[in-house]
Amino acid sequence: MQVIVTENYAEMSEKAAQLIIDIVKNNPKAVLGLATGSSPIGTYQNMIKDHKENGTSYKDVHTVNLDEYVGLTADHDQSYAYFMRTNLFDHIDIDLNNTNLPKGSARCRGKECDRYNALLENYKQDVQVLGLGSNGHIGFNEPGTPFDSVTHLVDLTENTIKDNSRLFASIDEVPRQALSMGIKNIMNAKSILVVVSGKNKAEAVKGMVKGPITPDLPASVLQLHPFVTVICDKDAASLL
Ligand code: F6R
Repeated sequence: MQVIVTENYAEMSEKAAQLIIDIVKNNPKAVLGLATGSSPIGTYQNMIKDHKENGTSYKDVHTVNLDEYVGLTADHDQSYAYFMRTNLFDHIDIDLNNTNLPKGSARCRGKECDRYNALLENYKQDVQVLGLGSNGHIGFNEPGTPFDSVTHLVDLTENTIKDNSRLFASIDEVPRQALSMGIKNIMNAKSILVVVSGKNKAEAVKGMVKGPITPDLPASVLQLHPFVTVICDKDAASLL
C-alpha cells in the first residue's frame, strides 16, 4: 500500500485527479470505479478542469459506482446518481449510457444486486476510487461485512446515518438502507485509490494502513490488495 500524505484537501484532490487522468490517457477505454461523498468532490473538480483545459476525453470510458441509497430515484437531488451527474458527468464528455450505479429505486433489490454483480464481471475497474467512513467502511460495507461479499442490500449504521445527515434537511430524511458493491467487488479492481481528509478519519486511516486485517474495520482488507494508493491530508495521516 502506497501512502501519499498531502498538506491539505486541495493538494490531495490534485494528486488523486492526476492519477485517474493518467489512467484514462493510457487507456481511453478505461473502466473507472467511482465514489460519492465529500472526499472525491475536489478530485472530480480537477478532472473537469483538466478536461476543459487539456481535452482529456472520457467518451469511451465506462464507470461503475460503489453504491446508491435505497428508495431514491436517479433524479432525487440526494441520490448518488444525481451527485455523479452534477459533480462530474455533466461537465465532461462521458456518454451517460456508459455510466452505471446500482438502481436504488429497483422494486426487487435482490434482482438489482444480481444485475449489478453481472455488470461488474464485464466491467472490471482499472481503478476503484474509495472514500473512507469514520468507522472504516468502504462503499457502504459497514463493520462486520464479510470480505467475500458482493453487491448487497445494506442496513446503514447509526454512525453512517449521522455522518451523512449533514447533506439532508434532517436526519429523518436520510435513507436507512443502500445497495452497495461488496468487498469482493472492490478487491477485484485492478488498482484502488483511497482519498481521505480530516482529523475525524485519522483512526480509520490508522486501522486501514497499520491495523489488523479484520471485518471490524472493512478498509483493513485493502492491505491484501497489491495496488492500493492512499492519498490523504496530514490531518487524516496524523496517527500513522
Ligand atoms: C460513497 C461511499 C462512502 C464514502 C464514505 C466517506 O460512495 O461509498 O463509503 O466514501 O462514507 O464519505 P465522505 O467522503 O463524505 O466523508
